[in-house]
Amino acid sequence: MKEEKITKIKHRMEKWLDNGDWKIYKAIRYTPLSGGKLLRSSIILNIGKDLGIDDEDLLDLCVAVEFFHSGTLIHDDLPAIDDASFRRGKKANHKVFGENIAILAGDGLFFKSFIIISEKYPKLVFDFSKVAYDVLVGEAIDVELEEKQVYTEKDIYEMYRKKTGALFGFSFMAAARLEERRFWRKLKEIGESFGIAFQIYDDIKDIKGEFEKVGKDLGKDINKKTILKLKSIKQAEYEANEIYKKVIDNLVFYGLNRTADFLKSVQNMVKEG
Ligand code: IPE
Ligand code: IPE
Ligand code: MG
Ligand code: MG
Ligand code: MG
Repeated sequence: MKEEKITKIKHRMEKWLDNGDWKIYKAIRYTPLSGGKLLRSSIILNIGKDLGIDDEDLLDLCVAVEFFHSGTLIHDDLPAIDDASFRRGKKANHKVFGENIAILAGDGLFFKSFIIISEKYPKLVFDFSKVAYDVLVGEAIDVELEEKQVYTEKDIYEMYRKKTGALFGFSFMAAARLEERRFWRKLKEIGESFGIAFQIYDDIKDIKGEFEKVGKDLGKDINKKTILKLKSIKQAEYEANEIYKKVIDNLVFYGLNRTADFLKSVQNMVKEG
């Protein structure tokens, strides 16, 4: 994303964040402002452009989605879930503020995201709530699968669709839903499949990524039931590439050319960093 847009989103984040000396305020600020790729925001804004919506009208939505996403990352890194120490090239939230405050900071970001959506985009409250629920269930399935000896490809894709696909599905469809464009359901499906490709690439990065680019602990998915327990890296990457290609073709089919071009231009970054 262009530097200027990153600054705009960060600036808008500030509007919704609290200042104060209590640790919780600092912990809530720390993760969203610590430099993620803002990929979900880029998708929202690009689809918005394709539909003729001004960035200004979607910035708060980007902030809500990024806050929610950051909340899930804080919880995902906790010792009870993935036990990760680094995120976005910096210490994970609980490593800086302690587990107790990090748990509450994740909750704080979830609630903030709902404050924003309900105040600014009431039409999206129902869909966003369902997405939040799906992400949580997806994370729980991820945890439960860790202990399972018997599982299928279907189980893994169900987990991916929920933990990662749901928020991408929302990011792809939100602008269309706001404009009451009938293809919003189709966009949601396209976004969910994009999320599956995205998670496959992420799981591959855990094995062969570089810390300088990825900015988070690598080699941690040894006990995780990722698709790479059932397929070779080569096969999984081929499948993710095919899904990614189909996402772009579908976007072109619906006339969302700008978003299609954007996704083409970031594919290498998505795969590596
Ligand atoms: C990380 O998402 C979590 C997954 C769904 C794999 P991103 O790779 O988009 O993380 P940031 O926001 O750029 O840090
Ligand atoms: C995605 O899974 C996490 C969420 C959807 C919160 P991972 O556990 O693989 O994400 P990373 O690799 O820690 O970013
Ligand atoms: Mg995880
Ligand atoms: Mg993780
Ligand atoms: Mg991962």
